[in-house]
Parts: sequence; C-alpha cells; structure tokens
Amino acid sequence: MVELLEAGGKRIRPALVVLAAMCGTYDPDLTIPAAMAVEVTHAATLVHDDVIDRSATRRGRPTVAAALGHEPAIVIGDFYFAKAYEYASLTHTPEVVAILAKAVMEICTGEVRQQSIRYVFSTDVDEYMRRIEAKTATLLAACCDIGALLGGLDMDQRQALRAYGRSIGLAFQIADDVLDYTATEGQVGKPIGHDIAEGFATLPLMLSSVKIEDGRRLDEQEASRVVDAVRNSHGPQRALEEARNHSDAAREQLKTISAGDATSALAALADYVVSRKL
Ligand code: IPE
Ligand code: IPE
Ligand code: MG
Ligand code: MG
Repeated sequence: MVELLEAGGKRIRPALVVLAAMCGTYDPDLTIPAAMAVEVTHAATLVHDDVIDRSATRRGRPTVAAALGHEPAIVIGDFYFAKAYEYASLTHTPEVVAILAKAVMEICTGEVRQQSIRYVFSTDVDEYMRRIEAKTATLLAACCDIGALLGGLDMDQRQALRAYGRSIGLAFQIADDVLDYTATEGQVGKPIGHDIAEGFATLPLMLSSVKIEDGRRLDEQEASRVVDAVRNSHGPQRALEEARNHSDAAREQLKTISAGDATSALAALADYVVSRKL
C-alpha cells in the first residue's frame, strides 16, 4: 500500500505547506505531519481518480486500480484519506483538520460535477475554470493556508498565501492538461491523450478550433485524431499563456509577505508549475 508513495511524485503539496510555514515561524514537529497529511490526501485522490479515469499507469507504474482492481482501489483510497486525517491530528490543531476536510469536500463536489459533463465536449471555459478550481486549486490553496496557520502568520498574510496557492493550483492544472496533449507517457508517467479519450474537454481543446460532437465516447482512432489536431493547433500554446497569467497572479500575492528564502522558493515554484515537463 506504500508503493504509490514510494514511486515518488513531485511532492508539490507538502512543499507548499513547509514553505508557507517557513514564511513565519517554522516548527517541524507541527509542520511535517501536516505536510504528510496533504500528500497522503493527494495520493488518496489519485487512487480514486485513476478508477474514475480508468487509467493504467501513474508515476511510471501500474495504477492501484490496474494492479489490484477497482474495488480494492476504492478501499485503499479510503484508507489513505483516513491516514491523512490521522497525520493531521498530530498537529494538535483542529483547524488544520477542518481546512483539509473542507478541501476534500470541495474536490468531491468538483468530481461529481465533472462526471455530469463527461462526453459533453462543448463545455465552455467558465465551466472548465470552475472544475479545475474545485479539483486542484482548492487543495493547493489549503496547503498554503495550513502552512501559514502553523507558521503563525496573521490573517492578511494567510489570505495572501491561500490566494497564491489557488492561483498556482489553476496554473498547475492547466499545465497538466496541456501536457496531456503535448508530453509523452515516458515523461509524465501516466497515459497521454487520456482526457479526451475519457470524455473530458480541457482548455487546450477549448482554445483550439477542433470541434467534437457531444454525447458519446470517442473510439481510439477518433481520440488519437483529436489529440493530433489539438497538438497541431494553437490550443496548447494559448492554454499555457493562460497558465502563465495565473502563475503571475500567484507571484503578485507574494509581494505582501516579507521577503526571504521561503518567498523566493515560492516564487520559483510559481515558475516551475508552468515550465514543468513532468
Ligand atoms: C496530479 O498531480 C493530479 C493533478 C492535480 C494534475 P501531480 O502532478 O502533483 O502528481 P504527482 O504527485 O507529482 O504524481
Ligand atoms: C486531477 O485531474 C484530479 C485530482 C484532483 C485527483 P487529472 O485527472 O487531470 O489528473 P491526472 O492527469 O490523472 O494526474
Ligand atoms: Mg486522471
Ligand atoms: Mg491530467
């Protein structure tokens, strides 16, 4: 059950907790359990996401769902969620548990909404932004909020870091959706062209002129034709520009936090999420 965690991952969420805490007074005894809680929460969402998305690979290995089946994957994901709250309780700060719980409820709301637009390829950018806000930005915002809380930052600084987390979350998911069109499976360790194959329109498609009829699953050949058409369009580039706008907005938020190594690292992270190749 630890294989997914051993396979690595970028560990962006725990980095956010630690760096946000370092903007204030850093106490590893409180911050490290919180960082573990958010990473294990993330792992739980991935195990369940790979069931929903019918994905065969994750972090360069078979997904839990592919290796063990859907039913065990659901229970293993649940186990991870419980483990995450156990870690969160080690902070002896009920608000940390509450922030995490709220983020997870929001992710679930987003996931349910996403199911209702599966195979509706004509969904618009507004719907897309609401979707990625719920499924990704919420958790990154929560990571920053938790770190800032444990670092003892005041309410204004906490809010600025939360807003930073939300913006890099939006940038991060847009970049992920671009990579789904432009990367290789070897680079990202998960299937490519998978969003459209599984019925989800994302920003690179929306900003291309490629049109798909709503209401049914594409067969393999149709999906790969769509991927090629989007890849050869301006869609991915335009989407990345949008991601960069959110990354810039994130960096802007840092101006209200006193400068130091932690804020420089957070600024560098804002660049990384839009330049990453994995
Ligand atoms: C994948 O998250 C899910 C998204 C929100 C796009 P990451 O890209 O952070 O996954 P790992 O943890 O590095 O594998
Ligand atoms: C991330 O969305 C979903 C979660 C918040 C778990 P994706 O479906 O795009 O993530 P990947 O591409 O499978 O990592
Ligand atoms: Mg997925
Ligand atoms: Mg993806």
